[in-house]
Formats: sequence, C-alpha cells, structure tokens
Amino acid sequence: MEKSDRGLFGTKIGVILATAGGAVGLGNVWRFPFVTGQNGGAAFILIYILCVLLLGLSVMLCEMIIGRHAHANTARAYTILANGKPWKWIGYLGVLTSALILGYYGVVSGWTLQYVFSSLTGHIHGTPEVFKDQFQSFISHPIEPILWLAALMGMAHLIIVRGVEEGIEKASKIMMPLLFILLIVLMCSSLMLPNAMKGVEFLFKPDFSKVTGKTFLEALGQAFFSLSIAMGCLCTYASYFSKDTRLTTSALQIAGLDTLVAILSGLVIFPAALSVGIQPDSGPSLIFITLPNVFEQAFGSVPVIEYIVSFSFYLLLTIAALTSFISIHEVSTSFLREELHIHRKNAARIVSCYGIILGALCSLSMGERNWLTLFGMNLFDFFDWFTANCCLPIGAFFTCLFIGWYVDRKIISDEMSNWGTIKAPHLHVFTFMVRFVCPVLIFIIFLHQFGVI
Ligand code: PHE
Repeated sequence: MEKSDRGLFGTKIGVILATAGGAVGLGNVWRFPFVTGQNGGAAFILIYILCVLLLGLSVMLCEMIIGRHAHANTARAYTILANGKPWKWIGYLGVLTSALILGYYGVVSGWTLQYVFSSLTGHIHGTPEVFKDQFQSFISHPIEPILWLAALMGMAHLIIVRGVEEGIEKASKIMMPLLFILLIVLMCSSLMLPNAMKGVEFLFKPDFSKVTGKTFLEALGQAFFSLSIAMGCLCTYASYFSKDTRLTTSALQIAGLDTLVAILSGLVIFPAALSVGIQPDSGPSLIFITLPNVFEQAFGSVPVIEYIVSFSFYLLLTIAALTSFISIHEVSTSFLREELHIHRKNAARIVSCYGIILGALCSLSMGERNWLTLFGMNLFDFFDWFTANCCLPIGAFFTCLFIGWYVDRKIISDEMSNWGTIKAPHLHVFTFMVRFVCPVLIFIIFLHQFGVI
C-alpha cells in the first residue's frame, strides 16, 4: 500500500489537537481531580508533572518514533522495526489492547451521551437517592445503554470514514476548542459559588505529609493512562505525522494540554462540591451520581444556570470521551485496512460493528445477565481491569526496551532531529530514560498493582 493514500494530518495545530483529543478523556475528568485531592493537592500535581515530563514524555516519544518512522498501523510499525524478531508482538498487543478497550469505553461514552440528552430535556433532578437509582436502573437496562452506545459509535464512525485529515483532524479542530470553552465556562461558574475557595485550596494547597512512595506510583499510573500510552493510539496517530512534525515539541504540547484539562477539571469539580459540603469521589459514581447532586444544590436556586451547567458538563464529557474513542477506533481501523487491504470504509464498518457487539456484552454483563463474567468479574470490569493492569504496563515496558536496546540508534536520532534539520539535545537523556529508568519504574508499578510490593 502506498504511504500517501494512508493520509496525513494537514496542519501542525491539527496534529496537536487530534492527538491531544486522543489523550484527553474521561480519565482527566473523573480520576485526576480525585487522586490529586487524596494525595496532597499541589504536592501531587508537582509529582504528576514530574512524572509526565521525565517518564510519560519518554514513552510517548518511543511510540511516536515507531509510528512516524514506519508510517503504518501499530502492528505493522513494530513489525517493520523488529526485523523479523518477536518484538513485533508488542505492536499486536497494542492493537489488541485498544480493541478490548473499545467495548467498555464505548459503553461509558454512551452513558455520557445519554446524560447530555437528559440534561437537555431537564430530566436530571432529584435527591441523591434518586440520582443513584436513576443511574443504576439506566446502566442495568438491557437495551437503552446499548442504543446510546450505538449512537456514539455512529458519530465516531461518521468521522473516521471521512479519513485522517477530513475526518479526524477537522472534527478535532472543532471539538477541542469547544471542550476548552466549556471547561472555562464551567470553571467560572464553579469559582463564583460561595466558599469556592475551599475547593481551590483543597486542590492546590500542597500537603507534603500525604506524599508517600505510593503517591509516586499513583502519579505515574495516572500519567500513563491519561497520556494514552501503550494503547496503540499515539503510534497510529504519529504514523499520520508529516516529516517536518517535531516529535519532542509535539509530545510536550500534547502532554501540556492533557495536564491542563485535568487541572481545569479539578477547578470545576472541587469548588462546586466543597461549596455545598460534598466530598467528591471518583469514577462513574462521581460523574453520574455525585455531581448531579452537587449541581442541583449549588445552582438549583437559579434553574436556568443549573440547566446550562449540567448540559455543558455532560457535553464536555461526551466530547472528551468521543475524541478518545475515535483514537482507539482508528487503531483497529487502520490495522484492518492495511492488513486486509480493504477500503477504510469497510474497515471502519467492521470495527464499529465489533465495538457495538463487545460493548453490548459489557453493558449486559452489568444488568440481569450476570452469567456474562470472566475470572469472577463482569465483562465490563474484567476488560477495564485487564487492559489497565496487564496490557498497558506490559506494552509500555517492552516498548521502552525495544526503543532503548534494540532499534537502530540512527533511526532514533533521525526521528528526533528530523533528519538533522533541528537540534535534539535531549537525545542522551531520552536514551537513558527508556533504557533504564522507565522500564524499572513500570515494572515496579506492575508489581504494586498486584500487591507484590
Ligand atoms: N487518555 C484517556 C483518558 O484519559 C485514556 C483512553 C484513551 C482510554 C483512549 C480509552 C481510549 O481517558
């Protein structure tokens, strides 16, 4: 297949917005603020930024080097650089990981879309118990969440089939600025509440007494997930970068935007929650049970504002989820397209149908169909657990070793310096990080997750 008919991102801003869109996802909104609050506020943010700069960026760069060098889907990109050695299986693992994430991430993204609709029709009202019951009965319903998943899949599908520049890039250029506008509007609404400063203080007041060894592992795990490392997304998107895209600068900008969204989300959630005296939690219950209650109590006295705030918030979540969802969809689409030599449209069709089936099974496993289990977990929890705790660390670990020890140094320095046209003074630091520091730390996180240390 010709390189040119794969498509390339057309503009620098397109590269940044599309790739940052892949990275900015639900993790930024429903996990980062909570983990920050739990782990010493600004002290954690500092450690997080260090983890992103020293470790996250290095692994991002590894994936970008592989993708841009090969100009091919993730499996083929690793295969090209592996020269017949088993390293190619890391590429296949990346594709598999994204294909497994596709199902359950689609289900959650479908929930966010449903809540956009409910907030539009003014249906998000009640007491904490009502919100909880509404959410529980919605997610365990046999059909409704699957229809929302299909709707979300339809949106992603329509964007993907238009191609890299006309589809993914154009959509990101609309969705990402909108995401920032929504975040800023929501942040201002939150900060104007009485006692909002309590939330700002909680988020930003450094409390070094809460920092332990575990804090570093939390920060590193969150950084890797948030930057979409080892899911094939970065490698796939980098395969659409042109020869003059500066990898290090782009990685820095993408990581910067991702961190900014995470911090701004904290400035939406904590001031609003603490202003009405509610302690925020994390995950789906934060988004679908706790926050509707916070919005109701904080903004309920002016119904129009409550309406606007909850609609904007769920729209923000849907955009964050959709851009990430597109990036994992594209990993499988480009894989099928290039390996089966089929048209992008057909590849996308197969992936969309597969995603709906897998998502439907995940969704059903949370309702009456409680026989849909694997290793004692329902399918939804199993895929979440398996990808986050097994696939991602294994993929990231071997990617570092691959670039650090196996791939030809010349390829790496060419990719980092755009064939000698720009300076790459950090090359030695990068090599040191991916050879020694990153693999050791990823291994420690892996052991920590399984309770070994
Ligand atoms: N970085 C994403 C997030 O924060 C993680 C992700 C990307 C998950 C793509 C799934 C698909 O949510």
